[in-house]
Amino acid sequence: MLSQLTCLVAALAATASATPVDVAKRADPTVYLAGDSTMAKTSNGLDGWGPYLSKYVTLPVVNKAISGRSARSFTNEGRFTEIEKAVVSGDIVVIAFGHNDGGSPNSASDNGRSNCPGTGAEVCKSGKTGETVYTYNYYLEKAARALVAKGAQVVLSSQTPKNAWQNGKFSSDVPRFVGYAAAAAKNVGKGASFVDHFQAVTNMYAKLGSQKVNSLYPKDYTHTSPEGGDWVAQAFAQAVAIGYNGTTPLKTYVKSPAPRVFN
Ligand SMILES: *[C@@H]1O[C@H](CO)[C@@H](O)[C@H](O)[C@H]1NC(C)=O
Repeated sequence: MLSQLTCLVAALAATASATPVDVAKRADPTVYLAGDSTMAKTSNGLDGWGPYLSKYVTLPVVNKAISGRSARSFTNEGRFTEIEKAVVSGDIVVIAFGHNDGGSPNSASDNGRSNCPGTGAEVCKSGKTGETVYTYNYYLEKAARALVAKGAQVVLSSQTPKNAWQNGKFSSDVPRFVGYAAAAAKNVGKGASFVDHFQAVTNMYAKLGSQKVNSLYPKDYTHTSPEGGDWVAQAFAQAVAIGYNGTTPLKTYVKSPAPRVFN
């Protein structure tokens, strides 16, 4: 009897430690954001979408996005580690990279941001420093797994699109990192989910039209104005609210009524 009870207790303990805390059980999780300039707080007439997310969710948002970073450089600078140290069980981390992730690390002018091509265990060697360089998926999945191990839930988001109305003509070429981010969420499994922010914003831009969308890109085709950052945040909140690519832990925290900007 006693040994049966001991077994039961041990089994329960094992289950408990293997299961990340259900975020719904915490009233006050924090949302952390990890990404590049399109998500960061920027200046000089531009702004990313991260600063506007708290208008549409009921949770505090800590924006750790920073201009110019890729999955590789965010990792190498210890920025994921910093978030891993900060999160407590039940927190939510949104990760979005892609704008700075292309290029070749093998080149003599390796910029420290390009990932090794591929989506798996491929490795490259930096043509500049000799550093071993891994794939986009390697960096994202490593970070996501470490966060999930701390009880956080990770939302892997596809990157934002560029201005889809360049020269007044609508076009949308889906970068490879969109599918890579979706695959990363699948590979990590429990504790990870995916939002196709790229598609949501692209659909919103199709609706907004050339004149409006061009007004949201005052300097180049990548970086939005503050108003543009707000629109892009609304597309994210809507995608979360409708479970665009499956349910994420943020869904129950979208303020009502949820934005309705892309369909
Ligand atoms: C996300 O969902 C939307 C709506 O169903 C779909 O159009 C899009 O292709 C999905 N994204 C991915 C990467 O599967």
